Amino acid sequence: MTTDTSAAAALAAAAPGPDVDLFSQEFAADPFPVFDRLRRSAPVHHDPVTRLWLVSRDEDVRRVLLDPTTYRNDNALGSVLPLRLPALRILDRAGFKTLPPALFNNSTESHPVLRGPVLRLFGAQRVRAALPMIERVTHEELDLMEAELDATGRHDFARGPARTIPVRVMLELLGVPEAARADIATVADWTDAFIGLFWGRTDKDRQRELAVQVADFYTWLCELAARPDAPEDSLLGALAKVRMPDGSPVPPDVAVAVCSNLMVAGHVTTSQMISTAVHRALETEGQWRALGRDPGLAEGWTEETLRREPSLTAWRRITSRPVTLGGVDLPEGAELLLLFTSAGTDPEAHEEPLRICPMRAEGRAHLGFGLGRHRCPGAELARAEGRVVLGAAAARFPGLRLASADRPPFLELVSFRAPTRLDVTHTPTRTA
Ligand code: HEM
Repeated sequence: MTTDTSAAAALAAAAPGPDVDLFSQEFAADPFPVFDRLRRSAPVHHDPVTRLWLVSRDEDVRRVLLDPTTYRNDNALGSVLPLRLPALRILDRAGFKTLPPALFNNSTESHPVLRGPVLRLFGAQRVRAALPMIERVTHEELDLMEAELDATGRHDFARGPARTIPVRVMLELLGVPEAARADIATVADWTDAFIGLFWGRTDKDRQRELAVQVADFYTWLCELAARPDAPEDSLLGALAKVRMPDGSPVPPDVAVAVCSNLMVAGHVTTSQMISTAVHRALETEGQWRALGRDPGLAEGWTEETLRREPSLTAWRRITSRPVTLGGVDLPEGAELLLLFTSAGTDPEAHEEPLRICPMRAEGRAHLGFGLGRHRCPGAELARAEGRVVLGAAAARFPGLRLASADRPPFLELVSFRAPTRLDVTHTPTRTA
């Protein structure tokens, strides 16, 4: 695929619209005023820093997602900003050049072949069967939180349960054998480093540090994919039976790419969703106690988090032909960033969009999990984890409070957003 950069640059120069710093703390903490301006004045707006066209209206984002032939996902996993040589050398030494097309970056005919086993593994039935495991893991991690609250009076929920539960659940569901498991905190660090390196704005030294962790992650994934003892009903067991469109087995680097897609997507997004949901519930008067009293509320709260502040805030596409979107003529090879958070707070699609309303009539009809051919296959799992963790934490710690009224720090990445630190304290109270 070629990129018509001269045509894109000419169009970009002509495009009006507000300045946006996609990597700033200000934008990460409160992106809503920027989205409002974009939707009103420049719904398809060229960002000169990333060279991405920002697509902000719900209607346009849906149009793109539902036309995967015109808007391909081949560019979804490339580094948003160019990486420097030292980081590239570290990745290269680990054999990590680029991830071959698997799921997130695959618009070829092998996509449905590779997506099949993932859909089966994370379908509603499998998620229902996994509920006792999710509940057990949740309570084990909440026990650890309780012990720290008892000992020190404080706990960081973002680095505690929100981070560890999704990693443990993913390792269980992917069928990673006990002997092959890396330490939970290490896996979480690896996946955080992965998104930090490819979706962040970092200097040379920080890139080098992140690249070391990504290289270790990649080495671990390669060893995992090569193990002969994958259980038959695990992802690797299922991939071993898959045949590519030409009849050949799944190449080892493609199996590694599928595992990497799942470990990263299955962990960071869910962790971030839980942190965001807990943060908003704790800062909204009376909401935390309501969640503890009524287990049914956690479902609506999770849904509203996914609509209003989805953890996958934005995702990329590239045009396969010249096309007009939102009144803007785009050449072949134009790279787009679909702003899911903006779409979820578009007043044309949602009434009082910034209000968190767990009983909202449109319920699940948001774009937090995407739409169409690449819609999230882990949606039911993420929802189940959101429900279980929110419900259990609110029921066990009704007196939980944010330790500070200050705004917590947020991740400053192009496609991911959540509080990175969420200090809480607990005042034991009697529940009625
Ligand atoms: C709150 C948590 C989650 C959010 C917000 C989320 C969001 C999304 C979105 C928006 C997409 C569509 C991307 C596109 O259109 O190209 C997607 C795709 C995907 N998600 Fe999730 N996801 C979450 C959890 C998970 C989990 C738990 C898993 C693993 C089981 C997972 C695995 C995937 C995979 C493999 C894809 C690519 C599918 C494809 O291209 O066919 N996600 N996710």
